Parts: sequence; structure tokens; C-alpha cells
Amino acid sequence: MAGSLANPTFVYGDTSILRLSKTGEPMTAAELPETMTAIAIREPGGPEVLTPMQRPLPQPGADEVLIRVAAAGVNRPDCLQRQGLYPPPPGASDLPGLEVAGTIVATGHAVNSAAVGDEVCALLTGGGYAEYCVTPAVQCLPIPAGLSALEAATLPETFFTVWSNVFDRARLAAGETFLVHGGASGIGTTAIQVARAFGARVFATVGSDEKRTYCEQLGAERAINYRAENFLEIVKDSAGGADVILDIVGGKYLDDNVKLLKPDGRLAIIAVLGGAKAELNLARVMMKRVQITGSTLRAREPAFKGAIAESLRQHVWPKLADGTIKPVIQERFPLAAAADAHRVLDENRAMGKLVLQVTAAE
Ligand SMILES: NC(=O)c1ccc[n+]([C@@H]2O[C@H](COP(=O)([O-])OP(=O)(O)OC[C@H]3O[C@@H](n4cnc5c(N)ncnc54)[C@H](OP(=O)(O)O)[C@@H]3O)[C@@H](O)[C@H]2O)c1
Repeated sequence: MAGSLANPTFVYGDTSILRLSKTGEPMTAAELPETMTAIAIREPGGPEVLTPMQRPLPQPGADEVLIRVAAAGVNRPDCLQRQGLYPPPPGASDLPGLEVAGTIVATGHAVNSAAVGDEVCALLTGGGYAEYCVTPAVQCLPIPAGLSALEAATLPETFFTVWSNVFDRARLAAGETFLVHGGASGIGTTAIQVARAFGARVFATVGSDEKRTYCEQLGAERAINYRAENFLEIVKDSAGGADVILDIVGGKYLDDNVKLLKPDGRLAIIAVLGGAKAELNLARVMMKRVQITGSTLRAREPAFKGAIAESLRQHVWPKLADGTIKPVIQERFPLAAAADAHRVLDENRAMGKLVLQVTAAE
């Protein structure tokens, strides 16, 4: 497959293979620059530590692809990394950025599932705030039909996370009741839409009436402003409790989450923005046979992420292509203005996703 005219591949580590562009024209290494503009974290701190600088082009390993980045999604974990609270796992780029969309411009010698010229969106372990990045080929997905690169760049991090936790781990089924905390967040807006698209009754908590309206427009049956209302009472009164809860708050919600779960209910914790420690009534866990789980995606091995990619391709990408599920972009920023995007997240002003425009056209 590598290097064929129909599927040209620019292969690292195998100089015997002719380098061809998508049109079949020979490509030279000169078409790839030696350096690129990237946004680095100068030191742990506020958004102002995000600094544009020149970096060498990353080189793909045997199973990896090199992507020319059109756009990069911005996520809360990027802010935590910037603050020094979420270090990149061993071997990952020190640059922030967990998701991109763009064009594959080179592949490692063992890659046979992707080729030069493929337009993809991809999950990364880091390095997305840059003109080029590398990632395992299995973590790439096609840009869903009808979506722009800017839109596709906002999908991987939250869609991989939500699918893995809500559907694989917590086994949400059609007809069940689902509650997501932080409903207007990137994670929340994804969870609301995907859970609704797969037939669940969806509830969400949010911190303002504006976010409440936003989540209800996205498909939540009822969004609850936790500053003015009690989510435990409202979901119990409306649906008798929740079968599955996706939680980003942690400690301070644990007791109420367990109280709210129906018998055999499942709680998936993916962040602890409200504290990592809590007291729990274990008798309630036993009596209701509740399951409490949690996970972090970033440090998992490529094969695990590749399996999620396959599920998304099969089950979710068709719903993005037919418009059942939509990317929700609040605002776009030039790459050099990444700090402004971080300010929006730091101040909890985001509704949906923020995206950095790297080389994407308008
Ligand atoms: N485990 C994993 O694999 C994984 C993967 C991806 C993301 N995450 C985590 O998931 C969380 C959401 O990420 P995101 O990028 O979607 O975030 P986001 O768009 O920045 O939204 C986070 C929202 O959480 C709410 N919030 C913030 N601090 C809070 C607190 N102390 N108590 C209650 N609510 C609070 C705010 O909404 P309101 O104004 O409505 O309160 C805020 O807008 C982050 O913590 C991120 O690290 C985990």
C-alpha cells in the first residue's frame, strides 16, 4: 500500500520508497521545513506563559504519522498542564495540545492504515499547538463527511473520553437516564449529544442560567443550575434517579451522586475539579449495588485508543456525518493567541469548544 500512486505514502525510515504527492508528483524533503512554529509552556503559570517559538519538526516513529496541522482543539487538561498540574506522560511532547485536524504528510515505515494526503482528525498525547505533530496512526480518524477541519479538530479528546467512559465502562443503554456534571463544558456538550443520540434521557448540571438554556438546546431534557437548584431532587423527581452519571467534579458530589444512582447504577469519574477526597456511605453502595469507576485517557497505550477510534468510526462518525451530533465551537483563535483561549477556560466562560486556527482556511 505504501507508495502506490492511488495511495501515496511519504515513508520515514525507508528511503527506497519513492516519495509521491497526492497527485502522483514526486515530493522532496524540501517540502517539509526543518522547523515549525509551536506554542510552548515557558514555565508553569497563567496563560501568559504560553509562548510562540520555533521548534524542530517532530519525526514519526515506526507506527506514527506526521500531520500538518490545520486546527487544534483546546481542552481543560491543556490548562492544567500549563499550570504544572498535569505533566505529559513519558515520551510525550512537552507542547500542549491533545487533538488536531490536518493532513498526513509522512508516515512511519510500519504504518499501513494511513497514507500521505489523508485528511484526518487525531487524538494526541501532546504537541497539538504546533504547525506539525506526530501521533500513532491508530489514533487517527477521517474528518466526518461535511465537517471542516476546524470542526473536526474539536472532536477527538472529548469523543474518545465520553465514549470510553459512558459507553464502554459505564455501559449506558437506550432508555436509561444519564446525568453529566459540567454540561456546558467540552466533555459535557459531547456527552449530552452522544447520550441523547443513543436514546438516553439526559440531564446536566451547569453553573449559570445561560449554560442551562444552552444545554437544553443541545438536547438535555433538563439542565440544572447548581447555584440555584438541587440536582439530586430534580433528577429524582423527574426520572426516579440516574442509571449513569459522568462526573468532572469529584469529592464534593460523591455522596449526592451515589444517593441519586438507581440500583445497579454506574458512576464514572473523569476529573476532580471539586476535590479528590470525600466520605462515602458504603452501606448505600452495597444496598444499591452501585459501581464507581474512573479513568484517565492520556497515558493509555495506543492500542487502547485505537480500539476506541474504531468504535467511534463505526457508531458515532455516521451520526456526525448526518448531523444528528454537531461539533459545538464557541470561538476560534489564531495559534499565536492560544493564551486568550486559555483565559476563557480558566474563567469557566466556555460553552462548547475552543479551537486554534493553525493553517486552516476560513
Ligand atoms: N479523565 C480523562 O480522561 C479526561 C479527559 C478529558 C477531560 N478530562 C477532564 O474533564 C474536565 C472537563 O474538561 P473540558 O475540557 O470539557 O472542560 P471545560 O470545557 O473547560 O469546562 C469545565 C467546566 O467545569 C465546570 N467547573 C469548573 N470548576 C468547577 C468546580 N470546581 N466545580 C464544579 N464545576 C466546575 C465549569 O462549568 P460551570 O460554570 O457549569 O460550573 C467549567 O466551564 C476537565 O477537568 C478535564 O481535565 C478528563
